[in-house]
Amino acid sequence: MLDPVKLKADFPVLQQTVHNGVPLVYLDNAASSQKPQIVIDTLSRIDSTVYANVHRGAHWLSDESTALYEESRDAVAEFIHASSSREIVFTTGTTGAINIVARSWGDANVNQGDEILLTRLEHHSNIVPWQQLAQRKGAQIKWCDITEDGCLDLEEFENLLSDRTRVVACTMASNVLGTFTPAKQITQLAHEAGAIVVLDAAQAIPHQAMNVLELEADFVAFSAHKMLGPSGIGILYGKEALLESMPPFLGGGSMIDVVSEQGFTTAALPAKFEAGTPPISPVLALPACLEYLTQIGMENIHQHELELASYAHAQLDTLGKVNILGPAPSEKAGVVSFTVDNLHPHDLTHALDNQGVAIRAGHHCAMPLHQRLGITASARASFYLYNTRDDVDTLVQAIDKAIRLFS
Ligand SMILES: Cc1ncc(COP(=O)(O)O)c(C=O)c1O
Repeated sequence: MLDPVKLKADFPVLQQTVHNGVPLVYLDNAASSQKPQIVIDTLSRIDSTVYANVHRGAHWLSDESTALYEESRDAVAEFIHASSSREIVFTTGTTGAINIVARSWGDANVNQGDEILLTRLEHHSNIVPWQQLAQRKGAQIKWCDITEDGCLDLEEFENLLSDRTRVVACTMASNVLGTFTPAKQITQLAHEAGAIVVLDAAQAIPHQAMNVLELEADFVAFSAHKMLGPSGIGILYGKEALLESMPPFLGGGSMIDVVSEQGFTTAALPAKFEAGTPPISPVLALPACLEYLTQIGMENIHQHELELASYAHAQLDTLGKVNILGPAPSEKAGVVSFTVDNLHPHDLTHALDNQGVAIRAGHHCAMPLHQRLGITASARASFYLYNTRDDVDTLVQAIDKAIRLFS
């Protein structure tokens, strides 16, 4: 098992006090995680030793930077068990990655009357690009519902698949309910129906081991800033044959082979999808995040969060007025969303912030899910490897105090 108290010491941000001396308890990890000192140091070392533009190859510094850039790609491929680094495209984030698929694969393969199957668990990033595609192409969006306890309704999912389904876009873990979806089964069923699968792994890859080959996923999208890394970068994994078949999304430098007045030819994978200067230092620092996570062990991280979520459920239940959304802890990631009787989530979050506890309130970029749940907003506490039982206790005490304050 991991030792969160020891790990927390690696994260300078978490050592702070806020609001004139209240210790910070950071429980907004589903939005963005924090960086350990090793990642901060790596970023700084890169900028003071090897920083130069990549793939320009005119001098030593650029060669060094390019080599590390490609080593980072190799490290990501290894981390998610991709069969080739050519299947790893650096993007701006999960949002950027999904937009590449919707624009490039979608425009080339989805036609009038085709169907795109989404689930009610999705983040807007895995909804709006598909709605835009459907608008461009005259395709139809279908929605797979959730069960009463907040799990994906697999029976309905199977029924909604048809020979018109071209794409299934599904989260691997809900950023609101925490629910893990049965990604392997989803992929198998979708493939049997002749559809491709786009997995939004933004809330999954930071918290559990990932094997894209075992999952047989066609596309997987995730963000570095939710897995101890810098913001501004994400990853699109795509099966090589699919990426090969797709036209480039953005045009510009780096994604071309030859440009003439008459037109252009595209670069080989994965450069074809990496137009322009990428976020160089963040990409070069990514292996430091992956090594840190690997050393701790993804299974240990998953178990730790499961334990924290179970503890949080039990403690919140003692307050009586807290309604936890979603399934039992065994079915979900370390995300606990809830409402409190007669207390708006924004008022609650504000009261918690005054006590140093950072959680999030609102629709969490999942309005259709909140509509399905019959609420407009919820409060969300989300855990990571450095959170402790003491953090959960502080959260629960702060909520208790807020309830008494507002009643
Ligand atoms: C499930 C899910 N998908 C997609 C995103 C979007 O990620 P990004 O803002 O890094 O593109 C998020 C971010 O919160 C998320 O939780």
